[in-house]
Amino acid sequence: MRKIIVTGGNRLTGEISISGAKNAVLPILAATVIGANESTIFNVPELRDVEVMERILLSLGCNVKKMDKMIWVDSKPLNNHKIPEDLVREMRSSIILMGAMLSRCGEVIISYPGGCEIGPRPIDMHLKALRELGAEIEESHGFIYCKANELKGCEIQLDYPSVGATENIMLAAVKAKGTTVIRNAAREPEIIDLQSYLNKAGAKINGAGTSVIIIDGVDKLNNVTHNTMPDRIVAGTYMIASAITEGEVVVKNIIIDHLQAVIAKLREAGCLIYNDNNSLKIIGPKQINSIEMIQTLPYPGFPTDMQAQMMALLSIANGTSIISETVFENRFKHAEELTRMGANIKIFGKVAVIKGVKELTGAKTAAKDLRGGACLILAGLAARGVTEVENMYHIERGYENFHVELRELGADIKKID
Ligand code: UD1
Repeated sequence: MRKIIVTGGNRLTGEISISGAKNAVLPILAATVIGANESTIFNVPELRDVEVMERILLSLGCNVKKMDKMIWVDSKPLNNHKIPEDLVREMRSSIILMGAMLSRCGEVIISYPGGCEIGPRPIDMHLKALRELGAEIEESHGFIYCKANELKGCEIQLDYPSVGATENIMLAAVKAKGTTVIRNAAREPEIIDLQSYLNKAGAKINGAGTSVIIIDGVDKLNNVTHNTMPDRIVAGTYMIASAITEGEVVVKNIIIDHLQAVIAKLREAGCLIYNDNNSLKIIGPKQINSIEMIQTLPYPGFPTDMQAQMMALLSIANGTSIISETVFENRFKHAEELTRMGANIKIFGKVAVIKGVKELTGAKTAAKDLRGGACLILAGLAARGVTEVENMYHIERGYENFHVELRELGADIKKID
């Protein structure tokens, strides 16, 4: 089993260039099946989740070629509409293939994704919306059977701005007859990236980034080339790596606007942050200030995907901080591991109370999920002594060469196979 060993205490300095966004490229790769066309996607991060999506596309019959940071997908030969069960189990977000495959073949069979490390994650909104678009869906023995002779545009009011449901609807509606309107749509930047990819291929979508998205159905999609947006969560994680080590790190190749909620909280914590075009310099303070309240929210609120990393930082603040996790249930598993390192954290349902301690001490820990794993590595960077983080595979789902990049910034860190 692969694990990370980090010896804390080194100050991080230097520059890091941020890779393409996992959460943007996954729905885009799902979208490649819609058009029986060729897609060339640049700035694709090398991550386990992306590999799983490639394997799904191959299993559906697509031609897929990968070179460095580029993926080329030819979806003309697609000849299968069953998504392999083991791959769905490995990557829950393969559920966004439902909309894309319905659009392409009018049929898809996918196993029920079930729960995951950060809560039950139901898909009721996905299914309801696809039914509204005209799909017939049966759930039986752990599988979802979807069929649609014709998808028809309609007005869909989401109960909650779910990222995945918004994407699934966009993918299903691209070639539907007539106009689809999504109200209370998720406003995450990754949805703008999906709109941009689809429109370059000939789709007619407006409004991504706002809570009303309008999709006028088109007959076909053309060959397309797209450059994936930078990963705001990876960027935010390196910003905290600088903050927690009294470091001075420049995070390059980002879209600063996507990071405003994180920037605001890091400034409250005492960081100095300077911006310059597409980069930010983060100077960590000698003493982290506690933060009265952080509430995770849909974009543009504070991202749930940055909650764990922020908890690592606040565990050594000079007072008590409160984090309220409103997006996912059961997303505080890292708190227990931080406690092993000497943190003082109490969980009350969806609220965490973090009483800052003078210092963390190295300990044997295990990543329970992707961002929780990143949180433990960040804590290890600041802790006295050696921290081990087991279950590296969680971290590899979302961070490319994390330990190598951190080492280049000055961390004492290695991976053991
Ligand atoms: C996406 C991101 C994930 C991020 C999350 C919130 C990808 C691949 N993943 O996940 O990294 O943490 O957005 O920013 O882009 N819900 C329902 N019913 C549904 C759908 C969702 O109850 O049908 C609930 C979920 O359980 C959760 C909340 O809505 O509590 C938000 O989920 P959603 O926005 O759908 O997140 P994902 O798309 O799964």
